[in-house]
Formats: sequence, structure tokens, C-alpha cells
Amino acid sequence: MSTKVAVVTGSNKGIGFAIVRGLCKQFHGDVYLTSRDVGRGQAAMESLASEGLKPLFHQLDINDLNSITTAAAFFKEKYGGVDILINNAGIAFKVADTAPFGTQAEVTLKTNFFATRDMLTHFMPLIKAGGRVVNVSSFVGSRTLNQCSPELQQRFRSEDITEDELVGLMQRFVDKAKSGEHNQDGWPDTAYGVSKTGLTVLVLELSHGSHFCPVSN
Ligand SMILES: NC(=O)c1ccc[n+]([C@@H]2O[C@H](COP(=O)([O-])OP(=O)(O)OC[C@H]3O[C@@H](n4cnc5c(N)ncnc54)[C@H](OP(=O)(O)O)[C@@H]3O)[C@@H](O)[C@H]2O)c1
Repeated sequence: MSTKVAVVTGSNKGIGFAIVRGLCKQFHGDVYLTSRDVGRGQAAMESLASEGLKPLFHQLDINDLNSITTAAAFFKEKYGGVDILINNAGIAFKVADTAPFGTQAEVTLKTNFFATRDMLTHFMPLIKAGGRVVNVSSFVGSRTLNQCSPELQQRFRSEDITEDELVGLMQRFVDKAKSGEHNQDGWPDTAYGVSKTGLTVLVLELSHGSHFCPVSN
């Protein structure tokens, strides 16, 4: 039987790092710590090595399509696919950050929604039979959904929402945030929240008939 493999995005620190630590202790197979920055990734590897754990490393910046396709090709070539993918990488502006809301919306949605979607697009075909994909969303996504206009809530809650429609709605939020019209358009003042609403709806939409497992914390 071929070696099993688990891949965790954004795992040089935080929750992703802890997931790698846990997988190293419990998963029977190779565990990949991935990081957009090789230096930060190596530092995390050394930290786990000092605990006697032995993950493997691959560079992966989910905002960089070339990085995603390079990693996907690597796992296909070396393992014939992926057994466990944890889409953990994400960003959140600090509450005190003074960056314009439109910028925060564009940057946050880029990573948490659009880039995570790119990961799913390129890695889902690699997931082996019986494999698992965990997408780390947030309870903030559910809370934000309840703060959207009735029209938006109706679409997000609709079972017939398509991926294209959802992508269009997420882009509409970014455009309206940049023009200062997101409130009039039915969106609340939280870019992080909207990004996680979008991620959860995306996973639910994709999960119809597949092996997706939406996870919130
Ligand atoms: N912490 C919470 O209370 C909480 C609650 C609910 C959900 N979440 C979700 O849990 C996940 C992890 O959160 P956390 O608290 O552990 O955050 P964190 O400590 O800030 O770690 C985020 C990780 O994602 C990486 N990352 C960011 N952009 C990336 C990109 N483009 N490509 C690859 N990696 C990237 C970061 O790398 P760098 O070090 O290079 O920046 C870092 O390793 C996120 O999706 C977050 O939204 C967290």
C-alpha cells in the first residue's frame, strides 16, 4: 500500500502548526507542514523537531497560483494524490488596523475565499478515495450571514446557489466595499466575516455529492 499523506496549509504557526503537531502524533503517514515563507516554515520545522516530531515541508502560498499548482504536481507525482487536506491558511486584519475597509475587503477575500477556492479547485481532483478535506471556516461566518440583507441571506441559504453565483457575490462585496457602498448593498462591516460566510457556503455547495466536511470553530 502506498504511503498516506496529509497536507496542512498555513501551518508555520497558530492552529495549522498545532494541527501538524497533532497529525505527527496520530496520523499513520507523511505529514506536510506548508508555509508561504520558506524561512518561517523551516523555523516551525525546527521547533517540531525539538519535540521529536518529524513532519516534512513544502512551500505553499495559496495566493500564488503557481505555488498551488507546483505543490499539487509534487503530491500527485510523489504520492499519487493526497489523503488529508486541511485548508487552514487564512488572514484577519487587526481591529485597530487603519487600512481602508475596501482594502481590507479585497485582501481578506483574496486569501480566505478566492485563494482557498483555488486550493480546492486544484487539490480536489487529487483527493484519494476515502480521503478527507477540512476547510477551516469560523463561527463568525454564521454570525455575519445573519447580519446580511434578507436578499443576500436568501441567496446564501439557497440550495440552488452555484459556485459562479457565489464567486460573483463575493466579488460584489469587494467592489461595493471599495466604493463605500457595501452597507447600502446589504453587507455588514466585516470583511473577515463575509470571507468566512463565503467559504462555508462554498464548501456546502461543493459538498453536495462529494466528501467535503465543513468545519467551523
Ligand atoms: N484563531 C482563532 O480564534 C480562529 C477562530 C476561527 C477560525 N480561525 C481560522 O483558523 C485559521 C488559522 O487561524 P490562526 O488563528 O492560526 O491564524 P494565524 O496564527 O495568523 O496563522 C495563519 C496562518 O496562515 C498563513 N497564511 C496566511 N496567508 C497565507 C497564504 N497566502 N498562503 C499560505 N499561508 C498563509 C500564515 O502564514 P504567515 O505566518 O506567513 O503569515 C499562518 O501560518 C484561519 O483560517 C482562521 O481564519 C481562527
